[in-house]
Amino acid sequence: MTDATPLVRLDSFLAQAIPCTRSEAKGFVRRGRVQVGGKVTKDPGAKVAPAEITFDGEKLWAPPPRWTRLIHKPLGVACSHDPREAPLLYDLLNSQELAAHLEAVGRLDRETSGLLVITNDGDLLQRLTHPRRHVWKVYEVSFAGRLHPATEATFRAGVVLPPDPEPTLPAFLTVGTRNPQGGTARIGIREGRYHQVRRMFELQGATVTALHRVSIGALLLPSDLVPGETRDATPNELALMIEPGPPVGPDGHPLVPVPAP
Ligand code: URA
Repeated sequence: MTDATPLVRLDSFLAQAIPCTRSEAKGFVRRGRVQVGGKVTKDPGAKVAPAEITFDGEKLWAPPPRWTRLIHKPLGVACSHDPREAPLLYDLLNSQELAAHLEAVGRLDRETSGLLVITNDGDLLQRLTHPRRHVWKVYEVSFAGRLHPATEATFRAGVVLPPDPEPTLPAFLTVGTRNPQGGTARIGIREGRYHQVRRMFELQGATVTALHRVSIGALLLPSDLVPGETRDATPNELALMIEPGPPVGPDGHPLVPVPAP
């Protein structure tokens, strides 16, 4: 090893190279499955040269750099790799981005627009989608029909979306406008069940006619991203995304009236 060899943190390197979560990587190191320069190392935080790391005696290839992009998903594209569902979200990416195997974190329906994150970072994917992490996602909703007057309380208590017998986690709704034909609302949810918002509204007597995601965690859809555009997430944006919330609007007030964590 020369002074110029860039060192990496052992557990981060393993999480990307195997790939696995950071805590699984720590477990592998502590159980003696990892060697550095031919010697077992039991310190997951050790700074080491990637070329010297072996796992169960096998050399690991250096992982590609972590890459996370924000995208303003436009209406009408599917979060899928299946060409039969074209047009696809991935058609908006350039070939370099595709080669990095970026995957959408928490898909949006074809007819939902708004903030989407695409990444090759397994740790971030896990943090944003793990069912126990409960990252807030806030959506602007337009609906048709008469939303039941007790909907705010019903959503806070949780609703059952068959066939899943578990009620949804408390969700927070603010109704903006109402008229005899429908209205607008903002909803904050902490899960990502299939068609969750559309199905929740349907149970309350209204049909979602437009759905737009405005935030993930404490990160708001950046105003510089027009529909269809992508750009790298900044370190500050990455940190905001994994904040437990509540998400705060540009005016400094919470987007939905969620309790403090
Ligand atoms: N809920 C839905 O119903 N659809 C989405 O795309 C996201 C949340």
